[in-house]
Amino acid sequence: MTSGDPSYSELSAIYDREAVIMANHEVAPNTFLLKWHSPEMAAEARPGQFVMIRTGTALDPLLPRPFSICSVRDNSEIHILYRIVGRGTVALSRVPEGGRISVMGPLGNGFDLTRIDRPAVLVGGGIGIAPLILLYERLGMEKCIFLMGFPGRGDVIPLEALDLSEAPVHIATDDGTMGHAGLVTELLEAQLSHEENRGLRVYACGPQAMLRRVAELTTKRDIHCQVSLEAHMACGLGACQGCAVEAAPGRARAYHHVCRDGPVFDA
Ligand code: FES
Repeated sequence: MTSGDPSYSELSAIYDREAVIMANHEVAPNTFLLKWHSPEMAAEARPGQFVMIRTGTALDPLLPRPFSICSVRDNSEIHILYRIVGRGTVALSRVPEGGRISVMGPLGNGFDLTRIDRPAVLVGGGIGIAPLILLYERLGMEKCIFLMGFPGRGDVIPLEALDLSEAPVHIATDDGTMGHAGLVTELLEAQLSHEENRGLRVYACGPQAMLRRVAELTTKRDIHCQVSLEAHMACGLGACQGCAVEAAPGRARAYHHVCRDGPVFDA
């Protein structure tokens, strides 16, 4: 099975549930970790998949929002890491422990895990680290290096809050206030320059400029790379056309739906 194959999502069940919040707390400025109990979603969730969340029963905010699945714990808990970016996420941040949300998922095509025996480099920019955390949990620390990029120290999400204190994480900050001073793609470039291409795989999620650079670096070295794209989504099911992105030149289709054909694509 390859990423971007629409049949992949058809293999997993999709649930539409009201969930009771177990925790919803701020782990970094404007960044929250949300947890709920859902053994059936937890059993289906694959790294790179997402859920659509609607807060409360009010009509405002009307549309559900997509959130990457960040972690699955004890085969029963789903965790979401999110940043406050607008009315929907403000409303979500105000749902207290014991409050209820509507959740549909898991949705989309996750990362292709057919070669998880290979060494891997995970590259996350900002909140783009979220889907890579579940991937890291599935791959295990022996095979992974996790590169994270943030604007500055104040934006870095504490690794303890994500249970990543022991993980092989390297941090870059644009303003040089923590870790490598510069872009996370510079860390990737350094990593690739002293790695033989022994079947290495690269998985990335973050801003588009970062993903473009990751794709350039890996394509040049003929390294397999998958990227998870972010897009505005209204339905999450391929019905509204709201998440269409232009396909690479030479593809059979002019557009892909990020929600149904992705969010993970071959770089
Ligand atoms: Fe509706 Fe993708 S979100 S088609």
